[in-house]
Formats: sequence, structure tokens, C-alpha cells
Amino acid sequence: MESAVKQYSGKLINEYFRDYFLTPPDLTVSSPGRINLIGEHTDYNNGFVLPAAIDKSIEISIKKRTDNLIELFSVDKNEAFSVSIDRLNVSGLLWPDYILGVVDELIKAGHKFTGFSAAVTGNIPIGAGLSSSAALECATVYALNELFGLGIDRMGMVKIAKLAENNFVGLQCGIMDMFASMMGKADNAIRLDCRSLDYEYFPLKICGYKIVLLDTQVKHSLASSEYNTRRNECFEGVRLIQQKYPSVQSLRDADEQMIEETITNPVIKKRCRFIVQENKRVTEGCKNLLAGDIYAFGKQMYASHTGLRDNYEVSCKELDFIADECSKEKDVVGARMMGGGFGGCVIAIIKEEAIEAIVKKISKEYKIKMGQELKVYITQLHKGTAAIN
Ligand code: GLA
Repeated sequence: MESAVKQYSGKLINEYFRDYFLTPPDLTVSSPGRINLIGEHTDYNNGFVLPAAIDKSIEISIKKRTDNLIELFSVDKNEAFSVSIDRLNVSGLLWPDYILGVVDELIKAGHKFTGFSAAVTGNIPIGAGLSSSAALECATVYALNELFGLGIDRMGMVKIAKLAENNFVGLQCGIMDMFASMMGKADNAIRLDCRSLDYEYFPLKICGYKIVLLDTQVKHSLASSEYNTRRNECFEGVRLIQQKYPSVQSLRDADEQMIEETITNPVIKKRCRFIVQENKRVTEGCKNLLAGDIYAFGKQMYASHTGLRDNYEVSCKELDFIADECSKEKDVVGARMMGGGFGGCVIAIIKEEAIEAIVKKISKEYKIKMGQELKVYITQLHKGTAAIN
């Protein structure tokens, strides 16, 4: 597998396509990974998030076929998979499922199209919490929409990509990851209201500072089961609050007083309290960014981490260690675990001239204390899903 990747390295995805399928593709699409500045686990609670697309992406080259066959090739895995469009089934290989899930949702929505050949590659690290799967789903839906002229707008494509993940892949995620990948804009974060789907671009004015991702390189196996547990705990909280406040439809509508009054179970209480506080932090954080006060924004990031660690309980010792080391550095504006939790990356805003020394120091400590190598990505905010060529 490794040797195949090396053999291919340096080539463009359309060249991989041509070499594998012996014909050039009709179209190539790139879709980015995402970060989230603040607003964790708020998306499926109808709250606010502040994600952005980054300069790491998944690329797909695609060509129409005249029959009903879907022929897929993953450059990075050096694996192929084929299936007929009218006999879609979970592949057993995982990576094809993100593509097949999109096809399945498009068919369910009444779209008609033939089979296709596609090759995929990417440089979004898998399992680092940067949403490589959402990027593949967005790349696929964008490519099929273009190729077959399906006439779906961007927000429609975001919804199809999310449903693919929920129904075919089976993860009950919220909308944030697909939204960020599809709607990203260079140098901007996006504040999204996950209930109304209204959004606003936020130019990130952090001159002299950079967004640095510190990848723990761990992914604890609890991640997906605990994700669904947290969702259910939040929904149970809403059910309890509704008994006294029937107008509350989601934790987005609740406040801390309602939680105190209606929920006695201490676990449900702290989960709900976290969500209410995290929503406030997104609103406050956006004000801080607009005012150009990134140190105030950084405080919201640290508070978010503390809440995720102590109340939502989705952190892990590796993430806590890195966030804690960051908090000791005056040139780190803010840091927190990012994404679903139980591994993946800490996102930090660090003064540019101090990055090298800080990263060196934390990497060394991380290796000694956690026995792992730290991976580091300095990111740029990038545009969303687009055709390339
Ligand atoms: C994962 C999910 C998102 C979101 C985050 C937590 O990335 O896919 O929908 O819930 O976790 O904020």
C-alpha cells in the first residue's frame, strides 16, 4: 500500500485517474477539511458554531459512464471498488461509503443519473478531527451535481452530504462539517446558526498570529459511541425542560435557570449547562473578534476546553495535556480541543514568531509524558468546495 502511494506521489489526481481508468476525467473537484474556532457539540443542539475551511483537501476526478456502474479508485489506499447504481450497499471498505451514501441520498431525492468512474486522493489527515469524510462527501455531491447538471444549490448539497453521513455511514453528526467544507471562504471563519442555517462570514483579523493544529495522533475508540450518548443526553435534557417550558424545542432555547429548575440528574444537568454556556461563548467570541480583541477570544477558547473536559466530558488526557501546556505560554492566545473529542487536534492561536519554539517545547514534553509524537499543522483559511483544473 505504502509503495503504491510513493510510486504515485507528485502526480495530480487527474493523472492518477487517467493512469487507472485509461481515459481522462470529465471533471476534478476539491473540497477542504475544516477547523472549528469555537462552538463544539452545539450543531446538533440547533445552536451556533464558528468553523472555517482549511488548506487541506480531498480531491475527486470523475467521468460519466453510459451504463449503471460506479467504479471507484482510492489513490491513497490503492484500493478499488465497483457496484451497480441500482444495487447500492455498504462496501465494507468504509471510504467508498462516503461516495455511495451521497449517490443514495441523491437517488432518494429523486435525481436521475447514470454510473460514473471516480478516483480520489487527499492530504487531510484521517482521524485527526479535520473532517476528511465530510470533505469527501462534499466533493462527491459537488462533482455529481456538476457532471449531471442536477441543479442543486450549495446549501442543498450540504444537506445531502450530511444525510449521506447520517444514513449510509451511520454517524448521527450535525451539519457543521459539511457546511464548513462546502461554504468556506479564504481568510474567513463562518458563524452559522444551525437552526435557521443563516450564516455570516467573519474575516479573521489575526495579523501576526496563526492558527496551529496540534494533533495528538490518538483517537480513542469511545469516540462514536460517546458522541451518540451525548446527543441523547442533550435530547433527554430538552424533554425534561419541556415539561415546565413547552416552548423549548432544543437546548438553543434553554437557559441555565431552566436547567437548574427542571433537571435533577447531575450528568444530564452538566451536559445541558455546557451547551448553553458554549452557545454564549460563540456569541461573545464573535463580538471579541469583531472588536479585534483576540486575547478576549482566546479566553473563550480556554473556557470552552474546560467545559468540554469537565462538563461535557469528551476530552482525553492527551488533549488536556496539550491545552494545559498551551495555557502556560503567554504567546498562545487561546487553545482548546476541537471536534467530537476523545482525540484528534487541539486548535491554538499562537504568535507567529513564537510558534517554532513553543511547538518544539510542547512536542518534547508530549513525547516524554504521553509517549506519542505530536504532529503540527499551521493552517490557512481556504475557500470551500470547487472545481479545479
Ligand atoms: C463532529 C461532528 C460535528 C460536530 C462536532 C462537535 O465533528 O461531525 O457535527 O457535532 O463533532 O462539535
